[in-house]
Amino acid sequence: MKVLVATVKPFSKEAVAEIKKVVEGAGYEFALLEKYEDVAQFKEAVKDADALIVRSDKVTPEIVEAGEKLKIVVRAGAGYDNVDLAKCTEKKIVVMNTPGQNSNAVAELAVGLMISVSRNCFTPGTGSELKGKTLGIHAYGNVGKLVAKCGKALGMTVYAFDPFIKDHAVYEKDGVIPAESVEDLYVKSKFVSLHMPANEQTKNSINYDLLSKMPKGATLINTARKEVVDEESLKKIFAERADFRYATDVAPACAEELKKEYPSRFFATPKKMGAETAEANMNAGIAAANQIVGFFKEGITKFQVNK
Ligand code: 3PG
Repeated sequence: MKVLVATVKPFSKEAVAEIKKVVEGAGYEFALLEKYEDVAQFKEAVKDADALIVRSDKVTPEIVEAGEKLKIVVRAGAGYDNVDLAKCTEKKIVVMNTPGQNSNAVAELAVGLMISVSRNCFTPGTGSELKGKTLGIHAYGNVGKLVAKCGKALGMTVYAFDPFIKDHAVYEKDGVIPAESVEDLYVKSKFVSLHMPANEQTKNSINYDLLSKMPKGATLINTARKEVVDEESLKKIFAERADFRYATDVAPACAEELKKEYPSRFFATPKKMGAETAEANMNAGIAAANQIVGFFKEGITKFQVNK
């Protein structure tokens, strides 16, 4: 049995060593492909792999076809929009993610982005504090919950909306106020932090209509996916409102333009770095390896996302 770790953006050395330990400890062969530059290398490496661990690497139909022996793909992380689920399902390949394993890293970055944009992205001038402000969590999953907790610790009033969580008790037990609707969340929140996956329902869903409802000093934080924010709406709201701010871990196509026009109100990380911590690498990498071993040895499919 061969387990391939294929990552353009590698795990830390320490995490790779631990993944290897789990794989070899189970009696399987470990293979590593890092920083590959073209798909051909990935196709070649996946050819004889039974299991595949990736990060944001694109597992396209072409890769799935190339992986003739593949039985399982684990996305070491939360969002699996990079994996072609339909193709994997067609080929009877189990796809899993490792939910929660890198959440803290992403949540901390969301808070860091809130602070940096509140200090004018560290350009000269008077900034503002988070204490006493309203924070809206859009999608109340693992990361959203942690950002809410941090917001409360900073003295913010925290609202949340999640279309899949109707039970108000889920929010209220965390001291979070449930918004009545998605519009209500944007009306109430000076800061909105996005935590939904990218899919057909969410792509371009953060649009002008929602953003224009935000109060004065509106600040959007995106550690989710760039695709969920509609870029035309973003450009329009920046041009119309001198108070609007956007900090994102996922640079939009118009990043250069926004950076040039609004240097104190727009910030994008140069590369996606929400999960780029030693801890998150270790947690997600080891979880992925253990899930593969659990699947082969005991048939455990707990985190399967293409059931
Ligand atoms: C995730 O969905 O888990 C994060 O976006 C992390 O992505 P990465 O593994 O490419 O850093």
